[in-house]
Amino acid sequence: MTSSDLAEPSVLNTIFPWERGTYDPPEAYSWLRENEPVRRVVLHDGTPAWLVTRYDDVRRILSDPRVSSNQMLPGFPQIELVPRPSEEESTFLNMDAPMHTVFRRLISKHFVVKKLDAMRPRIQALVDERIDDMLKRGEPLDFVEEIALPVPSTVIAWLLGVPPADHPFFNRETDALLAASLGTPEAIDRATEAYGNINAYVDGLITAREALDEPGEDILGNLVQASRDGVIKRQDVLNTAWLLLVAGHDTTANMISLGMLTLLEHPEQLAELRARPDLVPQAIEELLRYLTIVHLIVLRIATEDIEIGGVTIPAGEGIVPLNFSANRDDAHYPDAAALDIHRGARDHFAFGYGMHQCVGQPLARIELQIVFETVLRRLPDLKLAVSPADIPFKSHASINGIASLPVTV
Ligand code: HEM
Repeated sequence: MTSSDLAEPSVLNTIFPWERGTYDPPEAYSWLRENEPVRRVVLHDGTPAWLVTRYDDVRRILSDPRVSSNQMLPGFPQIELVPRPSEEESTFLNMDAPMHTVFRRLISKHFVVKKLDAMRPRIQALVDERIDDMLKRGEPLDFVEEIALPVPSTVIAWLLGVPPADHPFFNRETDALLAASLGTPEAIDRATEAYGNINAYVDGLITAREALDEPGEDILGNLVQASRDGVIKRQDVLNTAWLLLVAGHDTTANMISLGMLTLLEHPEQLAELRARPDLVPQAIEELLRYLTIVHLIVLRIATEDIEIGGVTIPAGEGIVPLNFSANRDDAHYPDAAALDIHRGARDHFAFGYGMHQCVGQPLARIELQIVFETVLRRLPDLKLAVSPADIPFKSHASINGIASLPVTV
């Protein structure tokens, strides 16, 4: 029986987003792909938005110049219950050309593979140091705290030029910031405090660069120079630093922790990877596709009427191109619901698609490759210390992940 034989799922008439499985998207996505690939739904604030579910249609929408990422436009889909940032706080994630292009040019040259490859030895040393520490302290340990959080946050600290002496502060505060997704009142209060601390700290880094004749050739230096030249505003320097911090930390951390858990839950594929570390890069692509952890962040609005999937999305209405659904489209990936480290597909949308496609993806890939290759090699006995059912999933967050991963080594 295919899902076209099934009646329309009742969840389609409830407020979007819908509950997903631990590893899998909401079941209704597969019904939509087959029966109503572009469907109008209602969000929690009552505004409508169009879900796009098929691989080819998601690609079409994300490369269509008639869509905008500008969240200030009335009708832009708001998925999270938290208030959207003010215009002052807007980053290039939510800008369109030509301003988006100005920022991409400033930033993307720092994320070219050749430049990032030079960071490999430092990242390797960092991961080795974390593993040495785990082995020394014994068990059980939380893989999230030991590896998944500190590796990406240290790498971002390097990128932003945070001096080593301040790394403990920076890691502590960014961890507290991310813990907001746990949703408890204490976690939210502490995250608000951490937000203020990081903001003041990064502002201080910028002020120190501004005092120099030559602000430097790294990301912060280039941004400070651009604000000095009047190409961007000072506030943009701070906003961009924030964007890198937020976009590069939680995402990579959750990919490390949830990716590890997924492998532990697929012991045959894990054993094969231990025996064949050359398969690690393609296994990471498959984990990126299969998990699509950044699954409700890619949002757009139509600036003109757009015909797609047999319907017309009217100008001014929101669009949710569902990259998680596209990545599980059987028409593009046979048996898409299965994890298969041999699939070898790099054309997934885990990093988005089109002009906003993740600028940090080469860095994320390097971090993931080093972490997985090193953990598999150096921790051959790594096992879950609790039942998989007891792992706390961040089931309502727009970035999927797990809050802790108790393991023995
Ligand atoms: C596994 C880790 C990561 C995943 C899954 C991920 C995913 C994504 C996705 C889906 C988008 C597209 C958003 C859209 O189209 O609206 C995006 C954009 C972006 N990501 Fe990543 N990301 C990751 C790691 C990183 C890292 C390490 C950095 C930088 C340190 C980074 C920086 C950015 C930035 C700046 C954008 C905005 C690009 C633009 O609007 O032009 N990301 N990311």
